[in-house]
Amino acid sequence: MTTILVTGATGTIGSQVVSALKGRNGVTVRAAVRSAAKAEALKGGNVSPVDFEYTKPEQVQKAVAGVEKLFLVTPFSQDQVDLGARLVDAAKAAGVKHIVKLSAMGADFDGGIQLGRWHRTLERYIQGSGLTYTFLRPNNFMENFINFYPPGKDGNIYLPWGQGACSFIAGSDVAAVAATALTSSGHENKGYTLTGPEAFTIGQAAAIIGEVSGKKASYVDVPEAAANKAMLDMGMPAWMVDAMMELHGIDKAGYAGEVTDVVQKLTGRAPVSFAQFARQHAASWK
Ligand SMILES: NC(=O)c1ccc[n+]([C@@H]2O[C@H](COP(=O)([O-])OP(=O)(O)OC[C@H]3O[C@@H](n4cnc5c(N)ncnc54)[C@H](OP(=O)(O)O)[C@@H]3O)[C@@H](O)[C@H]2O)c1
Repeated sequence: MTTILVTGATGTIGSQVVSALKGRNGVTVRAAVRSAAKAEALKGGNVSPVDFEYTKPEQVQKAVAGVEKLFLVTPFSQDQVDLGARLVDAAKAAGVKHIVKLSAMGADFDGGIQLGRWHRTLERYIQGSGLTYTFLRPNNFMENFINFYPPGKDGNIYLPWGQGACSFIAGSDVAAVAATALTSSGHENKGYTLTGPEAFTIGQAAAIIGEVSGKKASYVDVPEAAANKAMLDMGMPAWMVDAMMELHGIDKAGYAGEVTDVVQKLTGRAPVSFAQFARQHAASWK
């Protein structure tokens, strides 16, 4: 029996990794959670919740005890590298064998943007630890159209992306690759860039959202200065706004349009298209 600890188990990807591992033979899943209410929803079958707050070393130590494989998700915080490194140390001390880390597309480019540098720094730390690793470097998640930039009350999606096209990926595809890397061999010490099947613009995404929801959905290309100000006005901290503006810049420049065949190769099926994703999640925009 292999025990797998899934961090970020209540988040977009971690929750889908837990679902992908649920019911698998030979696997016991520990789902890391911060609240009892969220733990309740995850319980059942081969899945049991474990208290896990990155800033509480005793919880981190307890969570990794007896674990062989770790799915590592770091929160979007300024100290994400330190939090991740402490988890890696605890995992190594506890005898964890393999870390599958959720990273981000572009993390392997030198220089790059702040978000990528944070991921790359932690990737290097994991490589330096001597533990076996698999780095998953997905493009932007399709779920962002639900969680971060759904059409507003006026039906508009406001983003500073110009006509930049991006090969968004469904979280379920990231999770399927993660489950494969956690439960089969051949993925040791590798990094995978994960994308959806095609690149599309925000305008094209809005048209699809409008179609499946039956409500108006349009893209408004916002000047960068206005986007920057809007995020600050919403109360987002300056470091986060800076990181987001860098990311938006990459997307506007069209650097996030690359399409890879990794999902197909590792899962044996084509990645989910945005039209399929939108149909599955149409209720989110109604
Ligand atoms: N969004 C994108 O398009 C995108 C694309 C590529 C890569 N990524 C990377 O994906 C990662 C985020 O994954 P996600 O979107 O699945 O996450 P998410 O939905 O934002 O969820 C974050 C998870 O981490 C947990 N968490 C937050 N702070 C914690 C702490 N201090 N201690 C313990 N757990 C904590 C949250 O628990 P609670 O439920 O209790 O808050 C939640 O389970 C980031 O590293 C990001 O850079 C994102």
